[in-house]
Amino acid sequence: MRRSVKNIIVLAGAGISTSAGIPDFRSPETGLYANLKRFDLPVPEAIFDIGFFREKPEPFYVLCKDLYPGKHLPTPTHYFFRLLQEKGKLLRIFTQNIDTLERIAGIPSDKIVEAHGSFATSHCISCHAEMGEEEMRHAVETGGGKPVRCERCGGLVKPDIVFFGEGLPERFFDLAVQDLPKCDLLIVVGTSLKVHPFASLVERVPRTCPRLLINREAVGEATGWGDRGFSFKEGSRDQFFQGDADAGAKELARGLGWQDELNNMVETQQRELRIKWGLEESSLEPSAQTAVKPEDKIDKLAKELEQAGL
Ligand code: OAD
Repeated sequence: MRRSVKNIIVLAGAGISTSAGIPDFRSPETGLYANLKRFDLPVPEAIFDIGFFREKPEPFYVLCKDLYPGKHLPTPTHYFFRLLQEKGKLLRIFTQNIDTLERIAGIPSDKIVEAHGSFATSHCISCHAEMGEEEMRHAVETGGGKPVRCERCGGLVKPDIVFFGEGLPERFFDLAVQDLPKCDLLIVVGTSLKVHPFASLVERVPRTCPRLLINREAVGEATGWGDRGFSFKEGSRDQFFQGDADAGAKELARGLGWQDELNNMVETQQRELRIKWGLEESSLEPSAQTAVKPEDKIDKLAKELEQAGL
């Protein structure tokens, strides 16, 4: 990495958290959407659609319990971004993820844009009264898929994650305008680039800005964006590391001579979190975070939906 590179922007998606045991959305076998097909949803995305939620909120509340942050450890990829920040090279990380693993990894909140919102706050979708994080979490965890109702008006209370049909936070648009023209290296990682307006950020960096895609498969090529989508032809400014996000992050760290620093950070930070969260002694090996596979979580979720009669 050139010494002068100091305004790196990361665009992240669900693929950076699958090694923590959180399923992504669109992977054909293990993704959340593929596994919701058997339930009575018009399309899998309906579970996050505000119109559908108003009519039939139960599937979301069942799923919600599993989506709450605080059960999964940040991955080496998340800690690599923290290293970028500590080295003064990270301008911003725009993430579509609602798992807050970027914050948990210790990246300062002003460096993070949670484009699709977070679980930190919840509001009634009718009267907009706020419900505290702990109260909402308790209601969801003990509710068995029953809708959480507003004490004031009886409306549905929803965490402030962005549903299809809702606007993205203003901070997303403000910082996209402010940051992207300054970007001198764009790292796009673990996303299918299927959801707009997030996906269109890749075309907002300067035309000379190098772009690195780290993903299991190529994305963002045929998007109808003319010459602004990715081109992995030789001589192009775009580079593609095909593989797992953690492998890509470790490869970058190795190339930069940060390998030991990254390994130490992952090990010490994950250990501290396990102690803080009271995770089992048997999971004290750093690699144990992969013990919970996204497939297992999907099976558990499917059972819960069946139990809830959905
Ligand atoms: P997707 O599930 O659409 O895409 C995840 C991408 O990451 C796919 O290309 C996977 O192949 C890849 N992937 C999975 N695991 C990986 C790993 N360990 N290493 C590298 N690549 C991996 O997830 P997003 O693009 O984040 O929005 O989805 C965008 C939005 O769609 C989400 O924020 C959510 C969803 O509907 C809302 O709910 C509003």
